[in-house]
Amino acid sequence: KGCKLIGCGSGIPTLQVSNDDLATIVDTSDEWISVRTGIRNRRVLSGKDSLTGLAVEAARKALEMAQVDPEDIDLVLMCTSTPEDLFGSAPQIQKALGCKHNPLAYDITAACSGFVLGLVSAACHIRGGGFNNVLIVGADSLSRYVDWTDRGTCILFGDAAGAVVMQACEAEEDGLLAFDLHSDGDGQRYLNASVKENETDHALGTNGSVRDFPPRQSSYSCIQMNGKEVFRFAVRCVPQSIESSLQKAGLTVSSIDWLLLHQANRRIIDAVATRLEVPQERVLSNLANYGNTSAASIPLALDEAVRAGKVKSGHKIAVAGFGAGLTWGSAIVRW
Ligand code: ACO
Repeated sequence: KGCKLIGCGSGIPTLQVSNDDLATIVDTSDEWISVRTGIRNRRVLSGKDSLTGLAVEAARKALEMAQVDPEDIDLVLMCTSTPEDLFGSAPQIQKALGCKHNPLAYDITAACSGFVLGLVSAACHIRGGGFNNVLIVGADSLSRYVDWTDRGTCILFGDAAGAVVMQACEAEEDGLLAFDLHSDGDGQRYLNASVKENETDHALGTNGSVRDFPPRQSSYSCIQMNGKEVFRFAVRCVPQSIESSLQKAGLTVSSIDWLLLHQANRRIIDAVATRLEVPQERVLSNLANYGNTSAASIPLALDEAVRAGKVKSGHKIAVAGFGAGLTWGSAIVRW
């Protein structure tokens, strides 16, 4: 059995924050941010915006393009590390869309690799689980976990949602040609937003015995990042993963129409493209307008490219996600 991508959509917050706006709250400049990252603007949740609301907007647009009725969706995967409910928000998307036939809906937590993992999980559910129409949403609001006094991280991130619809099809029409996925918990020290340590210590007591019961309510630290190590990791692992996916698909770089990486940083995208010898005109990027939107970045850029007529039916795209965990992976998809 095959699975093909038949629709995409996106949802972005209304509040736009430029590099100059950031320079009013931390010691930075438009020039520093543009040169080091390629980012000029980002969108940030505000007022009545919600991440679930953006996800539903992206999903509605994807369903409309796919011409699939919400009632025919039998699986909703919400790829996010910043759900508005600690227990997951996919069922809320299912409810808001009116997927009435009681589909399965659950969250996937894998930071900036979340969407690639979502694509692969959806394909596995279709190929092995009898599912027919899967909605995959990538959405994150890292602005809620950024330390807005830390100029090393707050300049990087933005909020958004993107979605695709994947449908069962004949094997000849298959749209997921190959994939390659990895994780390495050792690298967690380079990028994390962990539960505050003193609060877990407090709950467990120093000897592991329950002391001072009941424990205080817990919360997460802001994003902690060693930018240089994350940069090195991405530039080393992403080309290897894409080469592995291409090999599994029996393809070479020259047979790929587009390279679409997680939109973290212009210099990472350029370095990976150079290493793979993909010319700039075959690289998709909208990082300048949205910053790093974590699990949303790939479907957000895909949606923009499809609606602009750049990505056409039958085009092959090498996509790759990488980020916290550490996690990384790639897939070769046919639009
Ligand atoms: N404005 C001005 N100066 C700054 C800023 C800023 N926003 N941030 C840091 N600086 C300063 C530092 O304080 C330092 O000053 P010093 O030399 O006086 O100490 C100097 O600039 C250089 O700082 P570095 O951290 O060494 O700068 P670097 O060249 O490594 O660039 C950056 C930092 C842009 C974060 C880079 O390391 C990077 O892009 N790393 C990858 C990060 C990434 O993409 N993370 C997300 C991927 S995973 C995911 O998506 C969750």
